[in-house]
Amino acid sequence: MWKYIRQYLFFAVIAGLFMIGEVMMDIIQPGIMSRIVDDGVLGVNNGGAPNLRLIWMLGLQMIGLVLLGGLCGSLNNVFVHISSQNIGNEIRKDCFCRIMDFSFPQLDRFGTGSLVTRVTNDITQVQTFVSLFVRGMIRTSLLTFGSMYFMFRLNLKFGLIVLCAFPFLVGVIVWCLWKANPLFSSLQAQLDSINAIMQEDVSGIRIIKACVREAYEKRRFGKANDELIKTQLKTLVIFAFMNPLTNALMYVVVTVILLAGSFEAGKGSTTPGIIMAAITYTTQLLNGILMLVMLFQNISRGVTSWKRVKEVLNSRPELMDGSFDGVTKVQGEIEFRDVSFSYPGSSQRVLSNINLTIHKGETVAIMGTTGCGKTTLASLIPRFYDADTGTVLVDGIDVRKYQQKALREKIAVAMQKSELFSMTVGENIAWGMPGAESTALKSVASIAQADSFISSMEEGYGTAVAERGMSLSGGQKQRISIARAVLKPAEIFIFDDSTSALDLKTEADLYQALKKSHPDSTKIIIAQRIASVRTADRIVVLENGSISACGTHEELLKSCRTYQDICHSQIGEEAECA
Ligand SMILES: Nc1ncnc2c1ncn2[C@@H]1O[C@H](COP(=O)(O)OP(=O)(O)OP(=O)(O)O)[C@@H](O)[C@H]1O
Ligand SMILES: [Mg+2]
Repeated sequence: MWKYIRQYLFFAVIAGLFMIGEVMMDIIQPGIMSRIVDDGVLGVNNGGAPNLRLIWMLGLQMIGLVLLGGLCGSLNNVFVHISSQNIGNEIRKDCFCRIMDFSFPQLDRFGTGSLVTRVTNDITQVQTFVSLFVRGMIRTSLLTFGSMYFMFRLNLKFGLIVLCAFPFLVGVIVWCLWKANPLFSSLQAQLDSINAIMQEDVSGIRIIKACVREAYEKRRFGKANDELIKTQLKTLVIFAFMNPLTNALMYVVVTVILLAGSFEAGKGSTTPGIIMAAITYTTQLLNGILMLVMLFQNISRGVTSWKRVKEVLNSRPELMDGSFDGVTKVQGEIEFRDVSFSYPGSSQRVLSNINLTIHKGETVAIMGTTGCGKTTLASLIPRFYDADTGTVLVDGIDVRKYQQKALREKIAVAMQKSELFSMTVGENIAWGMPGAESTALKSVASIAQADSFISSMEEGYGTAVAERGMSLSGGQKQRISIARAVLKPAEIFIFDDSTSALDLKTEADLYQALKKSHPDSTKIIIAQRIASVRTADRIVVLENGSISACGTHEELLKSCRTYQDICHSQIGEEAECA
């Protein structure tokens, strides 16, 4: 935290100084008021004769002090906000950068909802914590201890009466904070759930409507919200009891001071003005303590949030970079050496003893039933995850030895789920290679069989794409994603089921064009349709995470039962298969 505070310490210190000014004005006033009453109105030291001139003079002095106090207060506010907003801004930027550097296992572990809460709500809590700390802590502690000091100066007995009330107040406060603290952690975790449901449901609203599951999702969201409110209410109830308790204590102290004051006044050792000032100081002091409690409440919440933000900030990428810069003699060779893999935190083995070598320029297809581990196998090549045992080599070098950036520069991926951004079609294609020439965009779009549909759009490559590609069809999105991958000067291309929405002819034309334009690149095609893979140099059949067969279409038709089954199950191709 110090790292961030240090940068804006100057503003925080200035804010603190203005705060001292504001509080000083508050503390001086009861003293002046007591003089107005005793010397101005009652004429205690003047044989009971009121002094109008003194009332005017002290009254104007008081107004001046109020104005000066107000100015100090406003300036304090300005500087507090400058420091807290900037500190929040720096933390938010750092958090975002850290998340961008996260490895896939970390992203899986934190979850999107939680990361969003941490970068938004949690950082706002930290921001509030900083501003309350700078403003509130200084104000309340100065007010409390200043009032206490002046109280003792006015009358020792009055000071002692207030001091006696202290342990009770502290007891009430500590009890409330002890009860509320665990609830703050639950509150933030519940906010995580709400954010996760919000994201899922807003992005998946179409499928929710299609399946008529609105009522179910409303209930799910409602339930998460109810839980949040329940916890929030619990904390509010705790603090709701605290206010009347501390208020009651304040009035007890005021009454005792009045009783002691009347006794002292009778003896002539105090004056009505001093009793008035003592009561004002008591109110100020106890109000100060009340504010301190509110502060503690917010600060406890801020500390809980800060812990959650710190978890993000302190997380180092789990997959550490190697030192190899990626310059190799061979280019486009992949080898899986006895690779096994399970997802972090899961005991289920997704890949078992994979041994496979893919040569430069080869087109290798990976087939298999859904969930058998095709995407997982491909994701080990750009090192999205590390294998549990065995080694994945790219161009003869273990992927763990590469600088991740250098490794990923060799590989272009069109993911199973096309990810488009809310920018133009052209910008989406050029997204991985900013500054690419328009001719290059057109050329890769032609390879991806996308040029004709893009050109036929009113604004062509300048057509805006709606958020997450909502304004495009599934096949159009896939082709733009492929064009984006092909634009990258990569050695290895991975197409993960990325032509599944294309008709057979468009798909065949796409692979044909790709073969022609990138004859020396290695291509990995993950697909479910025989038509997509039959022209590949080799087809790997995956079954429950193991390679059950590998060969050309013709070889597999003769030797692999699973492949024959897949082939025969694809109606319309049966005749061709045979
Ligand atoms: N991030 C993840 N965390 C935990 N388990 C996962 C994760 N991703 C996938 N799995 C599990 O790993 C197994 C293999 O998944 P994978 O995505 O590799 O299958 P696939 O062959 O690509 O399937 P499909 O044809 O449906 O795309 C599945 O059982 C899946 O539940
Ligand atoms: Mg997959």
